[in-house]
Amino acid sequence: MSARIIDGKAIAEKVRGEVKEGVAAFVAKYGRAPGLDVLLVGEHAPSIVYTRNKEKAALEVGIRGRLHRLPETTTQAQLLEQIAALSADPSVDGILIQLPLPKHIDERTVLLAIPPEKDVDGFHPVNVGRLSTGQDALVPCTPLGSLRLLDEAGVNLKGANAIVIGRSNIVGKPMAQLLLGRDATVTIAHSRTADLPALCRTMDVVVAAVGRAEMVKADWIKPGAAVIDVGINRIESADGKGRLVGDVAYAECKEVAGSITPVPGGVGPMTIAMLLQNTLTAAHARSR
Ligand code: GUN
Repeated sequence: MSARIIDGKAIAEKVRGEVKEGVAAFVAKYGRAPGLDVLLVGEHAPSIVYTRNKEKAALEVGIRGRLHRLPETTTQAQLLEQIAALSADPSVDGILIQLPLPKHIDERTVLLAIPPEKDVDGFHPVNVGRLSTGQDALVPCTPLGSLRLLDEAGVNLKGANAIVIGRSNIVGKPMAQLLLGRDATVTIAHSRTADLPALCRTMDVVVAAVGRAEMVKADWIKPGAAVIDVGINRIESADGKGRLVGDVAYAECKEVAGSITPVPGGVGPMTIAMLLQNTLTAAHARSR
């Protein structure tokens, strides 16, 4: 039987609608809109598109979104000054520094300068620690969106065997924490994991976030398992334009899985929706 396709585009649309309503209620209560400030240093072409999309999406739900474009030559001290100004500004609820940063700027130093309560990316060690100790935290958008997709698909996580393939700070590790927080039994797999196909075949939930095109094959999937594909990889295609695929061999895996996300149209659209949700969450937490 073919899997249920988890429609990330439709679910992201639903989340944006919820945030829009939440923003209206916030404005009615506090007399101001939540504020999201996005900082982009330099001319990294994909980042220019992503940050414009973040600003636009914020404005669409009534968040006061603002994109700050800083030149490639911006020094670390100048960037830190800008972050300090936004940190001190009470109208700013969320600060997002688009990555990657130019090589002359130290990412860790910059991310540490964001106050944890305005860290809508959830990258600050305080938020990482809060998530891993089960406290309220701002959680990175991609794993948060992946969890929402599992919930929307009606996947039972309590007592489920779940594997997260990939151990990045942005996706793999926080995803594992979220699943653990929902009482799944969680395995984190990586490039050194022994016999990953056999291990994966025992799992009720598979989250693939490794960045290797179509690595997860149909014979890795237990019949009926839920499969969330975080990967976005461009591969060559017959027409020479290239084609986007995930970390999961979708066409074959959907014949075995119980539910599965496509690429594109799965996890991808959720990321910005969860950023908007995090901004509203931060605004509420700062208003208490
Ligand atoms: N660059 C690519 N993805 C992300 C993200 O989720 N947050 C930030 N800040 N930069 C990114």
